[in-house]
Amino acid sequence: MKTHFINIKNLLQVRQSDDLIVSGPQMAVLPQIENAYLSLENGNIVDYGQMAKFNFSNQDRCIDVEGKIILPTWVDSHTHLVYAGTREDEFKDRIKGLSYQEIAEKGGGILNSAEKLQNASKDELFDQSFKRLQNLIQLGTGAIEIKSGYGLTHEGEIKMLEVIQKLKRHSPIPVKATYLAAHALPIAYKNNKRAYIDEIINKTLPEVVKRNLADYVDVFCEKGYFDLADTERILKAAKTLGLKAKIHVNQFNAFGGVQKAVDFDALSVDHLEELIEDDISALQASKTLPVALPGCSFFLGIPYTAARKLIDNNLALTLASDYNPGSAPSGNMNFIVALACIKMNMTPEEAINAATLNAAHAIELSDTLGSICKGKKANFMITKPINSFSFIPYAFGENHIEQVWINGKNITS
Ligand code: NIG
Ligand code: FE
Repeated sequence: MKTHFINIKNLLQVRQSDDLIVSGPQMAVLPQIENAYLSLENGNIVDYGQMAKFNFSNQDRCIDVEGKIILPTWVDSHTHLVYAGTREDEFKDRIKGLSYQEIAEKGGGILNSAEKLQNASKDELFDQSFKRLQNLIQLGTGAIEIKSGYGLTHEGEIKMLEVIQKLKRHSPIPVKATYLAAHALPIAYKNNKRAYIDEIINKTLPEVVKRNLADYVDVFCEKGYFDLADTERILKAAKTLGLKAKIHVNQFNAFGGVQKAVDFDALSVDHLEELIEDDISALQASKTLPVALPGCSFFLGIPYTAARKLIDNNLALTLASDYNPGSAPSGNMNFIVALACIKMNMTPEEAINAATLNAAHAIELSDTLGSICKGKKANFMITKPINSFSFIPYAFGENHIEQVWINGKNITS
């Protein structure tokens, strides 16, 4: 039986199957049909078009969504959704004037979350994380990447990745897992970074790959965390084992991490709050995707990624939430899209492309998700009655999503 949505005010992100990514000026193009219908069957999109051409057979189900807009679900390609507890005390310290780095130097930051994670059972960790995931799905997130990185021991990292695997099994939406042991140097290895990286490379990584616990590898390539040589060692080992990289780079300092990622054919480079000319040319000569995380800039008060510069240099920008307890405690992609427009001068069209199609590409799902396309999964959201899609980022801070459909099923609670 087919399901048809009729009288759609605006059907957004209507694309051909070979549109798997949009870059440069193409990012400003958001193909759409006004007064449209959309048809689903067996969890997939099978047809769409103008209402004037709509053809209904007796056995079909018809849902009238007059005045509402349909767009593909958001894809969040960078999160740290699995964590234990929260870090409001650090939030208050920052209000009083301490920086993210100063808090980390006092033993807060990632190490604070690592301690909390160590004390949490796998079930507690799963329950907290599953709740967060369910909340995000109601806000329109239809696929997500989740990193480890608060374990910081062999057992801790494996525990996190096992929780992510369990989320994969229980989640209605696709989940990708990223192994991020090189997130911070654990206290036990304070004076022996080499030994920690040896453990990552020689012990944990082979087990992660053998047990298929991760889709990608990540490194926090940053001053005071992991330098270019450390990053190279980890990316090299991961590449040998067939794991692609998505790396944290240029959050506070630009010192060649982008080129290093490109050298290893990284799928994406994420953060980029600091950017130098060499980074732009490195990206232009590669397939590596730049990913901006405006929620982190907003929360930490650090610069926003220079979106205009990246797009105007013909690159394919992606937006993600970076959802984590320290630098971006919200995974609401509607707000991320609003920040991209308000703070990064992206047009609503560019921001929606960056948070749907390009985001799906950043986790290798754009052949099945990220646009309204015949044959793709029926993962989309229906807005409340609104005048235009620009209203979503414009009227920020409110939830304009009325329904979320995943694999052809309404899962709105
Ligand atoms: O992407 N910068 C590194 N990792 C996270 C923050 C993690 C934390 O503070 O817990 C980020 O911003
Ligand atoms: Fe991050």
